[in-house]
Amino acid sequence: MSEFLPKMSAIAQEAGKLLMGYFAQGIGYEYKGGEIDLVTDADRASERLIVGRLHELWPEHQIVAEEGTHRQGNSYHWFVDPLDGTTNFAHGIPVFCVSIGLEHEGKLQAGVLFDPTRNELFSAERGCGATLNGRPIQVSRTPKLAESILGTGFPSYKRHKDPNIHFYHQLTLRSHGVRRAGSAALDMANVACGRYDGFWEFNLNPWDTCAGALLVQEAGGMITRFDGSPWRLDSKETLASNGLLHRELVHQFGEIFAGRGLAPLPSPVEYARERQH
Ligand code: IPD
Ligand code: CA
Ligand code: CA
Repeated sequence: MSEFLPKMSAIAQEAGKLLMGYFAQGIGYEYKGGEIDLVTDADRASERLIVGRLHELWPEHQIVAEEGTHRQGNSYHWFVDPLDGTTNFAHGIPVFCVSIGLEHEGKLQAGVLFDPTRNELFSAERGCGATLNGRPIQVSRTPKLAESILGTGFPSYKRHKDPNIHFYHQLTLRSHGVRRAGSAALDMANVACGRYDGFWEFNLNPWDTCAGALLVQEAGGMITRFDGSPWRLDSKETLASNGLLHRELVHQFGEIFAGRGLAPLPSPVEYARERQH
């Protein structure tokens, strides 16, 4: 194992502790960029802490973090989500995490994700497997979409342009269900440790996915774009699974994008009419 993981883990845990302090107080939020996209003092304080620690340890590395950090540097690139699940956090819902990922020369190198509400530390390093609180983890063995549980999310930015409700509906009908927990990074960790069999989302950012994608890959899973083509950090489509379901999921995405075999969304007007009888 390289020098990275132990240090990253300590930083993520320190940031998680800081987040729990704010969470216990119940703090307010603001809107970012005229959208329903929330930010809190906790996001900013966590980012300051993580970026400060990374810069102290590796001053020559590049760092990008969600709340505005863009530090130039060499070919080591850090992607930091100081609080993934801000909307949950701001509403007092204990589903959020800290996510720190490292990329080098186009390859994901190391990732840690800390969920301070459950004291769960997920970590992975390229070629070394993935762990949860130090114990190796693997993706699930669910072989069929019809027996699977999936996760997804809906972006806060340009929500009116997001077609995901159709995918949510179709995949709900074809699986045991689709969860929408509100933290994409945790969703991916849940695929890595076998709680979810698959996860997808449109328009995620590298700070959401950098650590989670490596966790999924190192736990034996697969991550691609929706058409099965190779996924990269700047891909605007993320489809992660246990690998066994991947072909079926890619096929379903192709069918849905082509508008084939869609069960129509039930009409609320018809429902209301029938309810009166
Ligand atoms: C958000 C969460 C959410 C996902 C959004 C993300 P944030 O990140 O991961 O689950 O659906 O697309 O933007 O804003 O809480 O860091
Ligand atoms: Ca995020
Ligand atoms: Ca965030």
